[in-house]
Amino acid sequence: MAVAKKQMKTPHHVKDLNLAPKGHGRIEWAGRSMPVLAEIRERFSKEKPLKGLRISACLHVTTETAHLMQTLHAGGGELVLCASNPLSTQDDVAAALVDSGISVYAIKGEDRETYFKHIKAALDHAPNLTMDDGCDLVSSIVSDRRELLKNVIGGTEETTTGVQRLRAMEQTGDLAFPVISVNDALTKHMFDNRYGTGQSTIDGIVRATNRLLAGSVFVVLGYGWCGRGLAMRANGMGADVVITEIDPLKALEATMDGYRVMPSLEAAKIGDFFCTVTGNTSVLAMEHFEKMKDGAIVANSGHFNVEVDIGWLEKNAKKRTVREFVDEYTLKSGARIAVLGEGRLINLASAEGHPSSVMDMSFANQALSAEFVVKNSKKLEKKVYPVPEDIDKEIARLKLKAMGVKIDKLTPTQEKYLASWHEGT
Ligand SMILES: NC(=O)c1ccc[n+]([C@@H]2O[C@H](COP(=O)([O-])OP(=O)(O)OC[C@H]3O[C@@H](n4cnc5c(N)ncnc54)[C@H](O)[C@@H]3O)[C@@H](O)[C@H]2O)c1
Repeated sequence: MAVAKKQMKTPHHVKDLNLAPKGHGRIEWAGRSMPVLAEIRERFSKEKPLKGLRISACLHVTTETAHLMQTLHAGGGELVLCASNPLSTQDDVAAALVDSGISVYAIKGEDRETYFKHIKAALDHAPNLTMDDGCDLVSSIVSDRRELLKNVIGGTEETTTGVQRLRAMEQTGDLAFPVISVNDALTKHMFDNRYGTGQSTIDGIVRATNRLLAGSVFVVLGYGWCGRGLAMRANGMGADVVITEIDPLKALEATMDGYRVMPSLEAAKIGDFFCTVTGNTSVLAMEHFEKMKDGAIVANSGHFNVEVDIGWLEKNAKKRTVREFVDEYTLKSGARIAVLGEGRLINLASAEGHPSSVMDMSFANQALSAEFVVKNSKKLEKKVYPVPEDIDKEIARLKLKAMGVKIDKLTPTQEKYLASWHEGT
């Protein structure tokens, strides 16, 4: 009865509040791999660095995000959370957060209209701080809700695509407040984008298809941080990995890492699996689909569902849903192409996103960046800022401590040697 009352008081739009007990259990499980965030939460609950700060967060609503929300809440933040992707919400987690008194607007599978209604609800909170994964809050404020600008002291951004959009805004003079690029922290992209996306994308593809990767040709489109991780894991599962790129340096790196690199139109003819992770649009389009083998499987793990031109398939092929998260398109030639998770980031659509252990570091960066914005709001300009190096190093130190890994310290002789230019051969 007491729980029901609390739920009624917390504004929300989630699928089913009865899912809360399941969500609480899964959140607890995730927390066991998030020691760094737990340590920050403990300090936040004593020091209250975010006291009275209204925070609107637009993030994937997962068990790990629940821990970030609890950390910000412990720090005194007044929160509203909405989904940063229509397919990534874990409905039980959304219910559990509402049960804990945190406002959530997110339903897995929500349509475009509902998605933007939820963004609006998060913005109606009149945030002092925005926390984005893909820049939808910042872009909505700047384009449509400029009256909110007077309240905002800054924001944080989680992903590569969001940072790309913010830098474009900065270039055109449209960025209206300072934003910390959490993605640029080494303790974020070196681990989350590489090992997190690597493992969870394979997990998503395997859960959606239950196909064997060993012996298959697995095409990774884009050899950035996510692409490297994905290629490494597909290779480890016994696939023959092929890379496509547009950047000569990345292509060279992929070649020396031992992969075949070729133009996407060549790769289209031989691939069994294709996965885009470029942050770019129309990376797989008509000219690729028409060359693909019957039965080719296509997925995306980049932020937006623009990397695979599903619009063309919708107009030019016959669609049939063969199993959950698998839409099969039959082309006029008779070739069947299976698109996973509607071309939305597959690790969150058909799996559970990154393992908690990497999100521990990403979200430690989020929490400490929020604190940094509050402490430095008077000094910060309307720019995209990196996460300060001392925060990055501190997170790495805490993670190593939690993992029980010890490292060496420079000896005085070594310090002296490194600081001098006199000694040579
Ligand atoms: N699925 C997830 O959970 C998850 C996690 C982190 C990042 N992301 C998203 O994944 C995407 C990639 O992120 P990243 O950190 O690897 O970025 P990145 O900038 O490190 O890598 C992107 C790579 O794609 C290449 N590229 C661009 N256009 C291309 C094209 N047409 N063909 C082939 N290659 C092309 C670029 O040269 C670059 O090497 C972004 O949208 C990011 O927001 C998703």
